[in-house]
Amino acid sequence: MRTYLVTGGAGFIGSNYIHYMFRKYKDTIRIINVDALTYAGNLENLRAVEKRDNYTFVKADITDKEAITKLFQENEIDRVVHFAAESHVDRSILNPEVFVKTNVLGTAVILNCAKAAWELSDGTFKEDKKFLHVSTDEVYGSLEEEGSFFYETTPYDPHSPYSASKAASDFLVKSYIDTYHFPANITNCSNNYGPYQFPEKLIPLIINNALCGKKLPVYGDGKNVRDWLYVEDHAKAIDLVQEKGRLGETYNIGGHNEKQNIEIVHIILDTLQEMLPEEDPRRKLVSKDLIAYVEDRKGHDRRYAIAPDKIKAEIGWEPETMFDEGIRKTIAWFFENEAWMKNVTSGDYQKYYEDMYRGR
Ligand code: NAD
Ligand code: TYD
Repeated sequence: MRTYLVTGGAGFIGSNYIHYMFRKYKDTIRIINVDALTYAGNLENLRAVEKRDNYTFVKADITDKEAITKLFQENEIDRVVHFAAESHVDRSILNPEVFVKTNVLGTAVILNCAKAAWELSDGTFKEDKKFLHVSTDEVYGSLEEEGSFFYETTPYDPHSPYSASKAASDFLVKSYIDTYHFPANITNCSNNYGPYQFPEKLIPLIINNALCGKKLPVYGDGKNVRDWLYVEDHAKAIDLVQEKGRLGETYNIGGHNEKQNIEIVHIILDTLQEMLPEEDPRRKLVSKDLIAYVEDRKGHDRRYAIAPDKIKAEIGWEPETMFDEGIRKTIAWFFENEAWMKNVTSGDYQKYYEDMYRGR
């Protein structure tokens, strides 16, 4: 039975990936999820799998070399899927250091422990061991022109502390591939959305605020463009890259779905109006009057867009979920999981929100 070490599996994409993998492989794989449970990690996301015999949760920090070494010593790990990271650009602008620690040092620790566990005395690696590093299209910088896209060959040009730390982590993985022929792949994907996303990111934040009748903060002129990818499509792509991708290669994963932020806000408001039952009191709260243009993010990248040509040509993956369908599924999930949203927005979130949006 193949054993996966998933880092950051209690976060948004990691938990969706774990659900996807158990749906696909059922009892034929084993998953060990290592997560430090920062503000973004939530074991609620994994309630449906926690009792499985082939699932284990380990609370540990990926920068803790001893704890990670122990995990590799006690388990014969076949696949590493490395999600754990500090992931929010706005937080990185306020507090860059933890991004360097987790994203750069944490990646170095995971890489080194995997290398130590998998390397043979002649410098080659045990058979069928694979490491996948999950990264972002933000490492490529910002596009201005319509019709231009990020490719795997686009030079790195990160602007935020978040994207700079992810770029550094990508370079570390690349250095292991080049120096040791370490069996790894890197994926750089566009903005994800879907169930379990923490409401500091645009889509869940707008859904939650609209349902509470709170103002909808749109940075700058609202015309920045992101290329939205439904998270389950991403989970599928990660698995396909790991099993079918050429080792050492980078694959970009995009949604073919560019939208301005203000368009996203309007789509969410229209879809909420459509989906909320007539008698639901929240219908009266959801309104375009809530839209508030606020001070722009510092160094705000204008446009991201991926041409996922390589992954389609080599692996046959394409995004399957159209935005109309994906946003409905996402909103339906938030309707069905009101308690989840209440839990994550109580306590520390209130303080975060006040600090981040004060004066905006
Ligand atoms: P997230 O913030 O929702 O989850 C991150 C998880 O990592 C959390 O469970 C957190 O507890 C854990 N974590 C953080 N620091 C840790 C540490 N030091 N040790 C162990 N665990 C730690 O992030 P996400 O949106 O699920 O993103 C997952 C990965 O995908 C990240 O590497 C991110 O850079 C990348 N990515 C995300 C997006 C997106 O749209 N969300 C897009 C492109 C790439
Ligand atoms: P975000 O979800 O933070 O993802 P990223 O910065 O990684 O792309 O933001 C998506 C876009 O939405 C980005 O252009 C910033 C913008 N945005 C707002 O306009 N208002 C908000 O409150 C947030 C969180 C983001």
